[in-house]
Amino acid sequence: MDDMTTPPPTRLSLEEKAALLSGADFWHTAALESHGVPSIMLTDGPHGLRKQRGSGDHLGIGDSVPATCFPPAVAMGSSWDVDLVRRVGEAIGAEAAVENVAVVLGPGVNIKRSPLCGRNFEYFSEDPVVAGVLGAAMVDGIQSRGVGASLKHFAANNQETERMRVSADVDPRPLREIYLRAFQRVVEDARPWTVMCSYNRVNGVYASEDRWLLTSVLRDEWGFDGVVVSDWGAVDDRVRALAAGLDLEMPGSRGTTNAQVVAAVADGSLDADVVDVAAGRVLALVDRARAAAEPAPLDADAHHALAREAAGRSIVLLKNEGGLLPLARDASIAVVGAFAAEPRYQGAGSSMITPTRLDHALDEIRVLATGSVTYAAGFSTAVEVSESESARLREEAVAAASTADVAVVFLGLPARLESEGYDRDDVDLPAAQLALLQAVVDANPNTVVVLSNGGVVALPFAASVPAILEGWLLGQAGGGATADVLFGAVNPSAKLTETVPRRFADSPAYLDFPGEFSHVRYGEGLFVGYRWYDARDLEVAYPFGHGLSYTTFEYGMASASTVPTGDVEVRVAVTNTGSTAGHEVVQLYSSLPAGVVQRPPRELKAFATVALEAGETREVTLRVRRRDLAYWDVRVDSWIVEGGTYVLDVAASSRDVRSTVRVDVVGDPVALPLTRSSSIGEVLANPVAGPILRAAIAEMMGGAPDAAGIMPEGVDLQKMLDSFPIGRVGMFAADVDPAMVDALLAARPSDGASESGPGG
Ligand code: BGC
Repeated sequence: MDDMTTPPPTRLSLEEKAALLSGADFWHTAALESHGVPSIMLTDGPHGLRKQRGSGDHLGIGDSVPATCFPPAVAMGSSWDVDLVRRVGEAIGAEAAVENVAVVLGPGVNIKRSPLCGRNFEYFSEDPVVAGVLGAAMVDGIQSRGVGASLKHFAANNQETERMRVSADVDPRPLREIYLRAFQRVVEDARPWTVMCSYNRVNGVYASEDRWLLTSVLRDEWGFDGVVVSDWGAVDDRVRALAAGLDLEMPGSRGTTNAQVVAAVADGSLDADVVDVAAGRVLALVDRARAAAEPAPLDADAHHALAREAAGRSIVLLKNEGGLLPLARDASIAVVGAFAAEPRYQGAGSSMITPTRLDHALDEIRVLATGSVTYAAGFSTAVEVSESESARLREEAVAAASTADVAVVFLGLPARLESEGYDRDDVDLPAAQLALLQAVVDANPNTVVVLSNGGVVALPFAASVPAILEGWLLGQAGGGATADVLFGAVNPSAKLTETVPRRFADSPAYLDFPGEFSHVRYGEGLFVGYRWYDARDLEVAYPFGHGLSYTTFEYGMASASTVPTGDVEVRVAVTNTGSTAGHEVVQLYSSLPAGVVQRPPRELKAFATVALEAGETREVTLRVRRRDLAYWDVRVDSWIVEGGTYVLDVAASSRDVRSTVRVDVVGDPVALPLTRSSSIGEVLANPVAGPILRAAIAEMMGGAPDAAGIMPEGVDLQKMLDSFPIGRVGMFAADVDPAMVDALLAARPSDGASESGPGG
């Protein structure tokens, strides 16, 4: 916006630098007028702009300027459409630029660990590849307009209960492979200007004070070069946080913590360089914001149209028995359910946007329908409703439904049940709504259910209604988009990015959520979402990746090859075999059946969306990044690709595999020093010591271990010895001299490094 550049931190006093590292108010950084450093604004986010007019508050109840309310991440995630998410990001960035906002607080890429998390509507998926790819697209889009994004909430913020104190106790593999993976992808691919640390603790340490998280992992490993900002009020100890790598504390503390920073430098407990470096980063952020070009004027109608397109692409057709959908425009329709007239279109809390307009499904159905449309609320969204009132509303709905060709019943979660700041108690729809639905289906079996919910709900009626649309929370144009899908103006193409369980008690974190006494143990480990249901071979209501269309798609035989970068490319022809144009979301899952580390049976590694006219065939290329095949090896604290034959399933959902192809992948070497504690199995796997040991064993046992009579008949000696520490062999075999063991461990191939491990 202007071409001034900020002064280097060395020209600022310590007090000025400390001031720069904490909010001047709820949403702004401090200005240093005498140095020509302006204040910049950071504000919510994530699915539109929430810029408050006044000094601001924390809970979204303040009056914010109207902005386009795009579908929240729960819906956008279901589109699986990178380009669409990027376009929505561009629009949000454009709106922010016009409002002179430097940083939009989003996207959120936390993993949906439990269906109960009150904030699941703000997150994309239970899968880190989906969350990472779509999060990166959102950051790209926002930042393409000269506005920064703030990737949040870093990290392991997977529940709202006790969010400001709870410690997410996560083992290294799930932490890396599930919970950090999406953040890593967004940081590496899209280079967000800022990352927001979360409120919670990770393995006992506040995220805001976690040097390992904010510096070793985020900056040193992933190369993050932006500003780490705290979640609002996440700083418990400003000095410790600064030393750990937290640059900007938000909101401000009216000078209290600035004085602590100054005092800590003065008494030597905080290195002055730390303050300089952080101040330099905030100044660089200010520069980035100032460098943005003058924003283009906004077209609110075009953004509303984009919100409608995005919403249409986010509605998941879960079921469509007998082709009940799309509806004929001249059908007589009974619209039932209060959400048709009072839409639930976003969740509660800091992400609540004041929309520029708001579509109602009922009105939009009336616009597209040519037959009669009646409406009955069916239930009340009020907190307290008498049984007699419920019965009256139900009867009214039954009367409307029984005389119509089709009933479209809008059900969903009351707004107060899902919000930032607390979790849900269960996954059930209100009993009055279920009773209503039963009564309507009894009166008219041609019933379509349209759901409005930010988190997964139980679907006890899945077998008894012919058609279900999962509408999630669709933003301000969701009403129009719902009508588009109902009448087939838009062919649904969204697919679930989270599993809908058959029973809530089957869900992975069921016994470990939300924890107790400020600790939550991630006891399910790697087995989050579909990884769990597949590993336990559990029936689900609708699997991860599932979603129907008004057309049908056929997949050809997939082929795979490894490209020079080490990535794997999979190609498959997809044909639209129906009579309507549509999009198909093609998914690719990998497994390594003979692998040595624990793995879920199937893990998503890539996906692509393809648009196909009726009858059209296109080849879809899916690229699996080599690093996405890696597991986190706790022995060497590093990503390792295990060598072997990977099975790659090209699928229409996690439980609808259409073509399988195998590919041989060369593994990474794992350099494990051999010690007296190394097991015989590990020594045998070592390329240098292994052959020597093998020969020695053969000689000792006359070439046939069992025949040597040391072990009873039928015992698998090799298996037993595999985990036996080599240093203790001498205690059992008198003729093994400890010096022999030491010589074996010290063996080197012409003194080169010895390497072994699953890399192979
Ligand atoms: C939320 C953030 C949000 C911030 C500012 C916090 O309570 O967790 O997501 O960006 O407030 O409103």
